[in-house]
Amino acid sequence: MNSFFQIAQKRRKKVIGLMSGTSVDGVDAALVEIQDNGLETRVELIAFHTHAFGSEVRARIFDLFQPETSSVDEICQMNFLIGKVFAEAALSVVSDAGLEMEEIDLIGSHGQTVYHLPPQAEAEYVPSTLQLGEPAVIAYRTGVPTIANFRVADLAAGGQGAPLVPYVDFLLYRQTDRTIALQNIGGISNVTLIPARASSSDVIASDTGPGNMIIDSIMEMLTDGAEKYDNAGQYASRGDVSEPLLAEWLKHPFIAAAPPKTTGREAFGREFAQQALEQAKTQRLASTDLVATLTAFTAQTISDYYRRFLFPYFSVDGIYISGGGCHNRTLMRHLETLFQPVPLFSADAIGVPGDAKEAIAFAVLANEAVHGHPTNLPQVTGALQPMVLGTFSPA
Ligand SMILES: Nc1ncnc2c1ncn2[C@@H]1O[C@H](COP(=O)(O)OP(=O)(O)O)[C@@H](O)[C@H]1O
Ligand SMILES: [Mg+2]
Repeated sequence: MNSFFQIAQKRRKKVIGLMSGTSVDGVDAALVEIQDNGLETRVELIAFHTHAFGSEVRARIFDLFQPETSSVDEICQMNFLIGKVFAEAALSVVSDAGLEMEEIDLIGSHGQTVYHLPPQAEAEYVPSTLQLGEPAVIAYRTGVPTIANFRVADLAAGGQGAPLVPYVDFLLYRQTDRTIALQNIGGISNVTLIPARASSSDVIASDTGPGNMIIDSIMEMLTDGAEKYDNAGQYASRGDVSEPLLAEWLKHPFIAAAPPKTTGREAFGREFAQQALEQAKTQRLASTDLVATLTAFTAQTISDYYRRFLFPYFSVDGIYISGGGCHNRTLMRHLETLFQPVPLFSADAIGVPGDAKEAIAFAVLANEAVHGHPTNLPQVTGALQPMVLGTFSPA
């Protein structure tokens, strides 16, 4: 059994990154080989697997988002149940790769965010964040030392606890001669901008607004839960965009707010979708038109962010898209048009499959933690100092 100290002695490690985002579609598991650490880090993807949540577990996770429906005994149970699902995702990706668990050195798990209360001027709450998926359960069921709860140390130091992926973006994808933007489209969309020849303190990152979240909610509402998302954007492609509705939604206060900013279900969750559904009814829009308009809105919020906050200051040489949103062709078509003449690429163009990018990042964050490197970027999260992130659960 390896201690964390012994793991740090190895130059090459097999590490699993586990991630579930705001979409709650499933646990993404990336098995990677990591060589070295810090600025020398090299990563090779061995296997990737998405372990879907069962519909009952998914519904229970959504209930946790609502303080009115989540009791402390449910939170207690779900922490362990989600830990079990994360462990299953890790076991699956290793079996997909044809490897044995004994060959795996380390797991980095993001967990499932169920509540996030970042520091805010005049907030009346205690700044805090809660990711479920008990790492002791993951470590026990896999037999692999596990690092989790990456966000809490940043919050303890006064930061937002998010985003954390930009540090890894800098380690793995920085370029000497090009300024690049890495745009992830999960439930929420976020960008990491890495200027040419950047040092880590030059990296800029922020949420840009909704990702697939509103489209997913509306598809569930329109199909009574039969469809969880708009497959390949086909539904949206059959509708027309309502310009008046689009213009009205674009008045949302998040869009004009100055970065860095974070958003989530509070702003673009089921309530937003419910309201959009009612507006569409009043205006007698077909449901395909509603999905088309929400898809155009989602794309527009992303490109608006660049036009307001990035393009005036940086000449961006390329935008690289990752996250489940890259499968929505209608969304991608809008983005290509809106971003012209700046070229859009899939994340594959920088050597990483878009679906696996965030899970890989948590494998790298775990490796960095073992080596004692701080992984929050204070200018990104607002923390008072660089922090080594993650709590350690021995196998
Ligand atoms: N084939 C597809 N067509 C359209 N959208 C898709 C497709 N596959 C995945 N998605 C979208 O991607 C989302 C999952 O993306 P992901 O990057 O895992 O987000 P998160 O980090 O929030 O979990 C799904 O909820 C769905 O909206
Ligand atoms: Mg996901």
